[in-house]
Amino acid sequence: MSMISLIKSREILDSRGNPTIEVDVTVNNHKYTAAVPSGASTGTHEALELRDQNSKRYGGKGVLKAVNNVEKKLAPLLIGKVNCIQQKKIDDLMLKADGTSNKSKLGANAILGVSLACARAGAGESGKELYQYVHSLLPTKTNSKISLPRPFFNVINGGMHAGNSLPFQEFMISPQAKTFREALRIGAEVYHTLKGIIAKKYGKLATNVGDEGGFAPPIRTAEEGLELLIKAINKSGYSGKVDIAMDCAASEFYKNGSYYAPKKMTSGQLVNYYLKLLKKYPIISIEDPFEQEDFQSYAKLRKRSEKSGIQIVGDDLTVTNVDRIKTAIQEKSCNCLLLKVNQIGTLTEALQAVALAYSAGWKVMVSHRSGETEDTFIADLAVGIGCGMIKSGAPCRGERTAKYNRLLRIEEELNK
Ligand code: PGA
Ligand code: ZN
Repeated sequence: MSMISLIKSREILDSRGNPTIEVDVTVNNHKYTAAVPSGASTGTHEALELRDQNSKRYGGKGVLKAVNNVEKKLAPLLIGKVNCIQQKKIDDLMLKADGTSNKSKLGANAILGVSLACARAGAGESGKELYQYVHSLLPTKTNSKISLPRPFFNVINGGMHAGNSLPFQEFMISPQAKTFREALRIGAEVYHTLKGIIAKKYGKLATNVGDEGGFAPPIRTAEEGLELLIKAINKSGYSGKVDIAMDCAASEFYKNGSYYAPKKMTSGQLVNYYLKLLKKYPIISIEDPFEQEDFQSYAKLRKRSEKSGIQIVGDDLTVTNVDRIKTAIQEKSCNCLLLKVNQIGTLTEALQAVALAYSAGWKVMVSHRSGETEDTFIADLAVGIGCGMIKSGAPCRGERTAKYNRLLRIEEELNK
């Protein structure tokens, strides 16, 4: 039997220097650990990240209450009572103990830490790699296969992730390559070429990086960012071989019914603006093009860009939440789900979101958060659900490369 015998938790730091939670689950004297990431441009419908609000510690951002909830509230439910391979039972027990719709009683960060550490334990105790184990937890009818994802590298940062005045949050490059290893190399090469171009045009200071490892040059418009990417791709010798994706995170530049991108626009004008960008640049994917309540404008853009095969990704709109995804499916708002486990708070619910997205014919892209840890869980998640896409920031900053480097190792193992 692989009973859970001990659960411990601690406050650690994330990549922005803010506290976050880490959980150890012990089974048969083996310790399995998982850490929880944290967003900056969080959707209003995300599950609640419990913070202490004690201004004397970490500016109120401490997570000691969540740590306490893991050890005093969640641990007693599970220790000596469940086998670590019973992921659904574990998650259900925690959901029941919380009892709220957004995990506000115990904290989604507390619950997720336990959920992910238990998944690691389940994998370890059943002699599987984590990506194999995740695959085994997927509902069988999803029909997806274990596979390496195509990376989307966020190389220009704006919005809430950078100190510049660029309203759009992420400009990503995604190499077309036969292997993950090759995609990573191409991504890193273009990244370094881009660094040189930015240094020459804006000075060396402009090559300081934002939260996700991308550069944050003093630009204000999407066109300026996209032109920089095209130049870098061409100069690196990959013209036509690297696609572009954007995460607009538009809720962050929406105010009182208007978008500031940076010019003031209505949602209708913004639809046309995106269509213009799609015509001019090799953009294959646009995430959160409108604010998080506007299912209809997403649908308009999706419909009008349908012929180009562009991917419309829901992040703040759908928040990895089955109910929000159902609405987006009904409204035909998107054709791809951004998957962030901490938006919902348990692995089981995240996998249910995946199954629902697949059943509607959507694609899925696994995502990190802007505040990350060294935990590489999402690399295995992307491989295990076989979704084919991951975004984990630039090929730079340890918490980002940790995921990419884990994918290199998985690829090597799968090719043995
Ligand atoms: P966040 O950004 O982690 O700050 O929410 C990532 C994203 O919006 O995709
Ligand atoms: Zn996003």
